[in-house]
Amino acid sequence: MTASERIAVYPGTFDPITNGHAYILKRSLKIFDRLVVALAENVRKTPLFSIEERREMITAAVDRDPRIEVDAFGGLLVDYVRQRGATTVIRGLRALADFEYEFQAAHMNRHLAPEVETIFLMTSEESFYVSSSLVKEVALMGGDVSRMVPPGVAASLSHKYEAMRKKT
Ligand code: COA
Repeated sequence: MTASERIAVYPGTFDPITNGHAYILKRSLKIFDRLVVALAENVRKTPLFSIEERREMITAAVDRDPRIEVDAFGGLLVDYVRQRGATTVIRGLRALADFEYEFQAAHMNRHLAPEVETIFLMTSEESFYVSSSLVKEVALMGGDVSRMVPPGVAASLSHKYEAMRKKT
């Protein structure tokens, strides 16, 4: 990273990445030179995919764009942002339901680290109803999710569920 580079952190669970996330990444690259997609070792969720599997799906979804790095972090987001030398967090906003949680989180993060700004970008019309959990639920029941996720992710979902079915 050079001193003049604008770098932002886009945190989340990305279990798995959806077209909504991919859209936010694309928009963010219009504002920032480099992005760090920060995979949270989220204590509140039990992910279906491992960190490595999620990292690979994101890297493939962005065509291995050298401006986008995928990393994992534990602990507080603001500590990670500071450690990476960034001062901006990007979050995607879908429908109204996201607002309350995001509003609280942004204020908490500002309280913890006043120098870190949160920027919200609106997701695309096509993905305002999409979430990783819904995509997983539809895929588990055999529904077609290929228009909601980047190429390769739908196949990863069916392989994952197939492997789980074989185990039981
Ligand atoms: N398009 C489609 N879906 C989107 C989306 C978009 N643009 N943006 C978010 N989503 C979905 C995700 O798929 C996810 O769906 P799911 O709940 O079904 O899995 C949901 O919205 C929210 O996910 P995400 O954006 O990945 O955030 P998160 O809630 O999983 O993680 C962290 C939030 C990681 C940023 C937050 O928990 C955190 O900062 N953790 C670190 C600990 C910390 O610092 N805590 C204090 C902060 S207040």
